[in-house]
Amino acid sequence: MDYQRPNHVETPEEQARVQHSEWQYLKIFVVVVVAIVLMAAISFGMQVNKSMGELASERPAAAPAQTAQKPATAPASLNPVSATAAADTAQPAPAAATPATSAAKAPAAASTAAFAPPAADAIPEGPMGDVIRRGEQIFLHTSTQAKAFVGNTLNCVNCHLDAGRAAHSAPLWGAYTQYPAYRSKTKSVDTFSERLRGCFMYSMNGKAPPHGDEVLVALEAYAYWMAKGAPVGEKLPGASYPKVAKPAQVPDYARGQKVFNAQCALCHGDDGQGQRSGDVQVFPPLWGKQSYNWGAGMHEVDKATGFIKANMPLGKGNTLSDQDAWDVATYINSHERPQDPRFTGNIADTRKRFHDSDFSLYGQTVNGQQLGQGAK
Ligand code: HEC
Ligand code: HEC
Repeated sequence: MDYQRPNHVETPEEQARVQHSEWQYLKIFVVVVVAIVLMAAISFGMQVNKSMGELASERPAAAPAQTAQKPATAPASLNPVSATAAADTAQPAPAAATPATSAAKAPAAASTAAFAPPAADAIPEGPMGDVIRRGEQIFLHTSTQAKAFVGNTLNCVNCHLDAGRAAHSAPLWGAYTQYPAYRSKTKSVDTFSERLRGCFMYSMNGKAPPHGDEVLVALEAYAYWMAKGAPVGEKLPGASYPKVAKPAQVPDYARGQKVFNAQCALCHGDDGQGQRSGDVQVFPPLWGKQSYNWGAGMHEVDKATGFIKANMPLGKGNTLSDQDAWDVATYINSHERPQDPRFTGNIADTRKRFHDSDFSLYGQTVNGQQLGQGAK
């Protein structure tokens, strides 16, 4: 015998822990069953979408729905405070962008994802395959697999669904071929790797891995593999998040809260903090100190609206009206979250430099509170 289990009598605390962990197993079991049902529902939905896509293959590649959905201008202002004020400032929506039109066309947009990435189990053997697989693991379990660079409980896959494969959730196959690109956010031409560093700083509220770090190499290898056969420099249908037409009414906090309670709280919690089971974040937080920070793309109401419209409630994408999607995105992004890492020491100044946009609520006053204090 090389080793022996130490003789040991269980203390009452340990027994309690055992009972507690039995509860944990039961909870995990329930969560796994729910997840399996959801996965089945989602993959059924995808097959339906796919066959609709095949049927509709004579449709012009540039989907009319996507052009129609592009808002001609930003909503005059986001009005997170009250429905009555919204009525005063509401502007007539351009005829081409009424919610009815785009809602009718949304399913068409969802079915035009022409590009098919390689099957998830087709990662090659050998050293390249090993690094691709490492990238996949980091993408799925970022907060444990790339811990040093993550400051919240999110994982890349939370916002890039189906391991970064799902159309309309900024899939990796749609992203990889778009870089290098000039980005107004950084005011420079960024490589794909530099783009990934930004995800860690903002979406993951962490630290950018150093250039050439193993984590960046693995994620890049994973994205490169997924984009196999994709045309370089062309924006594919289903890439990035969809643009949702300007809503008829100015987006509103109170209406958004109602949508949230009815459609989102079940998974994300009444307090928006998601749900944990032991160490595993089963449903991700939408605000607060474990969420994306004020510098992240998702804090911009138009981007969140696009993601939510196409993907939420999970498994029921494209069921919310455009108005509901705008309202609930406004509600979520009217809550505190970690400070923007570019914070200059002054909220108004930080807004002026980095958030001078109708789509950012940073520095705005909502329900009597100025946003941008940073969740602690
Ligand atoms: C809180 C949500 C969130 C998380 C978590 C997140 N991202 Fe993103 N990501 C976004 C948003 C929003 C965009 C911008 C999409 C757009 O502009 O349409 C984006 C864009 C990207 C892009 C560029 C997409 C394109 O089409 O140009 C890449 C690549 C990317 N993310 C990778 C990652 C990686 C890798 C991680 C994990 C380290 C990650 N993201 C975590 C929300 C998130
Ligand atoms: C059935 C459970 C469920 C419901 C209902 C649901 N979500 Fe989600 N949501 C998820 C899961 C799970 C993820 C992460 C997806 C993944 O990792 O594959 C997610 C991710 C998100 C994200 C990006 C990640 C983050 O934490 O910021 C946002 C934003 C979001 N949901 C908003 C909403 C909104 C708004 C609604 C209501 C309209 C909603 N969700 C309803 C399960 C749900």
